[in-house]
Amino acid sequence: MGAGIIGIGRYLPEKVLTNFDLEKMMDTSDEWIRTRTGIEERRIAPDNIDTSDMAYFSAKKALEDAGISATDIDLILVATVTPDRPFPSVACMLQERLGATKAAALDISAACAGFIYGMVTAKQFIDNGAYRYILVVGVEKLSKIVNWNDRNTAVLFGDGAGAVVMGPVSEGRGILSFELGADGTGGKHLYQDEYVIMNGREVFKFAVRQMGESCINVLEKAGLSKQDVDFLIPHQANIRIVEAARQRLELPEEKMSTTVRKYGNTSAASIPISIVEELEAGKIKDDDLIIMVGFGGGLTWGAIALRWGR
Ligand code: UT7
Repeated sequence: MGAGIIGIGRYLPEKVLTNFDLEKMMDTSDEWIRTRTGIEERRIAPDNIDTSDMAYFSAKKALEDAGISATDIDLILVATVTPDRPFPSVACMLQERLGATKAAALDISAACAGFIYGMVTAKQFIDNGAYRYILVVGVEKLSKIVNWNDRNTAVLFGDGAGAVVMGPVSEGRGILSFELGADGTGGKHLYQDEYVIMNGREVFKFAVRQMGESCINVLEKAGLSKQDVDFLIPHQANIRIVEAARQRLELPEEKMSTTVRKYGNTSAASIPISIVEELEAGKIKDDDLIIMVGFGGGLTWGAIALRWGR
């Protein structure tokens, strides 16, 4: 048996904030944002919807998709850097709201790589037989920590959530290999003080290098090559960064997710949000080899090679 995704769901707030809306709020332009980042619009959650609410909406869908009930869940892992409050964790709030009475629960703080960290952690418990069903959520309400007077960061981020139920899948499917990494010396390039502070150029250089390398590393670990890849789901930070990863894998354009255009950078939520988008578009099918790769504040990074299907 392998450990894989057996159910998935997402939640995106209804409110769309376009580049043209931002033009009215700060000294920026649709032209600059589109050419430098690929972003056209992003979603912003209203005041009465916090991170745990978005986590809940996405988790409900993932449970329904998996065909299990909340009481079947053994562990809840929530990847987020925008919890409702420092504690209790979003995972514990979610446990209560779902009625997941037997589940242990904790948040994971690994910024935009958090969802990959969560999936890899879940895999260990499933592989060793300790747990059967693990809910992994990537969720962010970045709009509450963005400085809306700082054009260097405000135009980049969006809100949203994606959740997966992980559990045992047939032999040959699920996570085939993974890589996780961290480099605390780069923490100064992307962090939260009151608001998000970022040295965009440094993060950009790191991201381009690390995403490409991690993709190649997980392929090697799984005994596979670039030609075997069916679809690439990179963390959606910037179209130029994900394009660099696609070129490193020599993949055609249609084999990579570019949801950054519609949703901006949703940090830990961007990978599960993108998986749902591509599934709904019919771009991911059973037995496809999917590469997921993320990087973020910490600095952190992670990648997974996964054979799709239950
Ligand atoms: O999830 C991980 C989180 N972070 C990232 O992935 C971010 C990685 N970095 C990036 O995506 C890019 O570095 C940015 C999109 C943030 C910036 O793009 P860039 O091509 O590296 O631009 P830059 O920082 O070199 O800035 C170019 C110019 C600057 O003006 P000067 O100093 O050349 O006159 C900026 O002030 O663009 C200016 N600028 C803007 N202009 C209009 C910066 N932000 C804006 C803006 N609108 N929103």
